[in-house]
Amino acid sequence: MLSITFAPKTAATVTARAYLVADDLSLPVTDKYLSAALKVANFKGKKGETLTLVHPSGNPALVIIAGIGKADAVAAAGLEEAGGSIFAAGLVTKAAQLEIIATLPKGCKKVDVTTSAAHLAFGAQLRSYRFDKYRTKMREDEKPKLKAISIVGADVTKAKKAHTPLSAIADSINFARDLVSEPANILYPATLAAEARKLSKVGVKVEVLGEAEMKKLGMGSLLGVGQGSVRESQLVIMQYYGGKKGGKPIALIGKGVTFDTGGISIKPAQGMEEMKWDMGGSAAVIGTMRALAARGAKVNAVGIVGLVENMPDGNAQRPGDVVTSMSGQTIEVLNTDAEGRLVLADALWYTQERFKPSAIVDLATLTGAIIISLGSHKAGLFSNNDKISAQLSAAGDATGEKIWRMPMGEEYDVMINCDIADMKNISDGREAGSTTAAQFLQRFIQNDTPWAHLDIAGVAWSKKATAICPRGAVGWGVRLLNNWIAANYEGKK
Ligand code: BES
Ligand code: MN
Ligand code: ZN
Repeated sequence: MLSITFAPKTAATVTARAYLVADDLSLPVTDKYLSAALKVANFKGKKGETLTLVHPSGNPALVIIAGIGKADAVAAAGLEEAGGSIFAAGLVTKAAQLEIIATLPKGCKKVDVTTSAAHLAFGAQLRSYRFDKYRTKMREDEKPKLKAISIVGADVTKAKKAHTPLSAIADSINFARDLVSEPANILYPATLAAEARKLSKVGVKVEVLGEAEMKKLGMGSLLGVGQGSVRESQLVIMQYYGGKKGGKPIALIGKGVTFDTGGISIKPAQGMEEMKWDMGGSAAVIGTMRALAARGAKVNAVGIVGLVENMPDGNAQRPGDVVTSMSGQTIEVLNTDAEGRLVLADALWYTQERFKPSAIVDLATLTGAIIISLGSHKAGLFSNNDKISAQLSAAGDATGEKIWRMPMGEEYDVMINCDIADMKNISDGREAGSTTAAQFLQRFIQNDTPWAHLDIAGVAWSKKATAICPRGAVGWGVRLLNNWIAANYEGKK
C-alpha cells in the first residue's frame, strides 16, 4: 500500500518532486529552468495535464508539473485529480518516493493549502489502487516502484486532520474495488457475505440470512433467481448507528448478483465475463457502510444487499414462471436475465418492513439500456421525490460521481402490467428499458417513502483509467453516498 506522510519542509534529498501549476503557468518557486521548460514543452496548465522533466541542477533530478486549470476555479475535486495524475506520472518512473508541494498558485480562492494537501493525498491513494493478487509472474519492470509520497507545504496537524476521514473513504473505495474485481469462482454469495461480515471490526452490526430464513420470510422473488445456482443465496443486513438515538435510519440497498449468465434466458458468450461485476451495487453499499463507520459518521444507516448467482441449470427458474414476492405481489418472470429487479424487490420490501427507513437509495447494475442512454459518464437516477433527487445530484457534482435524472410515470408503469400475475418482469418491447425497470422497483416502495434508484450499469467499471481510478473496478457510489449523507444527515459537513 502507498505510504502517505505530511511534512513541514521539503527534504534535503529527494529523488522526485511535484508542483501544481495553474493555467497562468506561474510556479510556486522561482526557477528559471522550470519556467523556460514549461514554455518550450507547450505546457498549458490544464486540468489533468502533467509534464515530467529532468532538472539540470539535479536536486531533485526529476520534477513533475501538474496542471490544475483556472486558478479561481480550483476546488477539492480538481486537487484529487492532480494527486492522482501526479501519482500516475511518478509510477512510470523509477522513483520510489515522491514529494508533492501542496502550495497553491496565486488566485486559488475556493481552497486553502490544508485542503490541497489532504485532497492531493486522497487522489494519490485512489489512483494507486491495484489488483494483482493473481499475477504470479510479474516482470521486474512491471512491478510498481513508487511506494511513498510526502506532501509538503501545509500545517502538518491540520493536514492530517483533514486527511483522516478522506483516508477512511479511500480505504473503503479500494475495498469496494477489490470486491468488484474478484472473479466469480472466488466471490459468490457466501464469500461476499463473509467479506461484509468483516465490517463488524469497524463497528457495523452484520447479519446474514440464508435460503431457509428467506423462504420463511416469503422472498420468492429473490430466491427464484438463485434457484439454478449451487451457491446459496444470501441477504446481508448491516446496521450502523452513529446518529440520534432511536432516530429512523436511512437505507442503502444493493444488487449483488455475483455472476449473471442471464439464467435460462442466457446471455451471448461475448463479453459475458463482465458479469462478474454485476454485484457493483452491493460493493458500493458495503463500501459506504464501512466508510461511515470508519470515519464515525453522525448518522443512522442500514445497508441491505441481496446476493445471488444467476445460472442456467436443471433446477433454474424458467421463462414464464410465476413467483410470489415477500410483499405478496406476484411476478411473471418472462426473462430470467431481468433478475436484478427480482432481487431488489424482496430486499426493498424486507428493509421497509423491518426498519421503516426515512429514505432509501438503491444501487444496481440494472440495465444495459442505461449504458445506451448515458454512456459511462453518468449513472441514471430514478426517484419518486424531488428533494432527495436534488440532494443526490448535488452530491454527484461535488464528488465527480455524476448522475442524471431520468423520467418515471404512470404511462411507463402500465408497461409491466401482466395478464396472469400482478406484474411481469420485462415490458413487451425494448423501449425505455431502464425506466420500466425502475417502475418495477417502485411497485415495492411503501407509502411514498423518499426513494432513489441509481442504475450504475455504465459506471461500475471503467475500460479506461481516469485521474483517480485505474482501468477496471471503480468502486462507484461510495463517495457519492458518503457525501450525500455528510451534507444532509449529519447536521454539518
Ligand atoms: N446485469 C444486467 C445489466 C447489464 C448489462 C449491466 C450490461 C452491465 C452491462 C441485467 O441483469 C440484465 O441482464 N438486464 C437486461 C434486462 C432485459 C432482459 C430487460 C438487459 O439490460 O439486457
Ligand atoms: Mn441479467
Ligand atoms: Zn444482472
